[in-house]
Amino acid sequence: MKTILESIALTKIFKTGKIEVTAVRDVSLKVPEGEFIAIMGPSGCGKSTLLHLLGGLATPTSGRVLVDGEEISSGKDAVRTDIRRRKIGFVFQRFNLLPTLSAQGNLEIAQEIHRNGSRDRQHVDEILNLLGLEKKTHHKPSELSGGEQQRLAIARAVINRPAILLADEPTGNLDTRNSMVVLKMIQELNRALSQTILMITHNPEAAGIANRLIEMRDGRIVSQQQEGEWNAAEDRMSL
Ligand SMILES: Nc1ncnc2c1ncn2[C@@H]1O[C@H](COP(=O)(O)OP(=O)(O)O)[C@@H](O)[C@H]1O
Ligand SMILES: [Mg+2]
Repeated sequence: MKTILESIALTKIFKTGKIEVTAVRDVSLKVPEGEFIAIMGPSGCGKSTLLHLLGGLATPTSGRVLVDGEEISSGKDAVRTDIRRRKIGFVFQRFNLLPTLSAQGNLEIAQEIHRNGSRDRQHVDEILNLLGLEKKTHHKPSELSGGEQQRLAIARAVINRPAILLADEPTGNLDTRNSMVVLKMIQELNRALSQTILMITHNPEAAGIANRLIEMRDGRIVSQQQEGEWNAAEDRMSL
């Protein structure tokens, strides 16, 4: 399987005055196309920083990141931004939807920005269907539940067919019921579209639907388990 995302000895040190924090320490990772990875670990262990480095939102102190063979960790801002726009979709805890536009409108504007003004209505409908939002096409974000808003944010993140979806605690603001629905949809996205996904989560159920579970501590990857290797996997797989 083709490697779609690779990090090599990735390190990020933040300097605040005289204080240095090594947020990410020597992380080397290879992600095959189509894999669904869950990243877990205590608060402050470097999960978000790692995701930002992998997606080109931050530059490493040392080490490299290759996205589909292209280096996103160095070079001119414009080049890195271009790779990010073409290859990466982001989802965060906060939905950041445009409040005055409908669900459909939020997806169309994301398409237009990406495609120089052109739309692909069929794909908008496809993605709304896939994420269970087909009856909410004309609803504005304020008329959607938290879970629906996050599904719409996920729809927007993948509407331009990014090679990689990066999600930072996508269920962090949701109740248990909505979290389950959102996780099921993320799993469906991975299965139906072979979408490569890296998702930071504190949710044990979320870890159970991934193909690989990565544990971080103090900026390092301390353990990795493949699907089926972790305890009670069967219970969680029934999600
Ligand atoms: N922009 C920043 N400036 C200084 N320190 C930061 C910055 N971002 C993160 N950190 C520090 O890096 C460490 C890892 O943070 P983060 O990646 O947000 O952890 P996590 O997402 O696992 O909670 C923490 O000690 C945090 O305080
Ligand atoms: Mg974080």
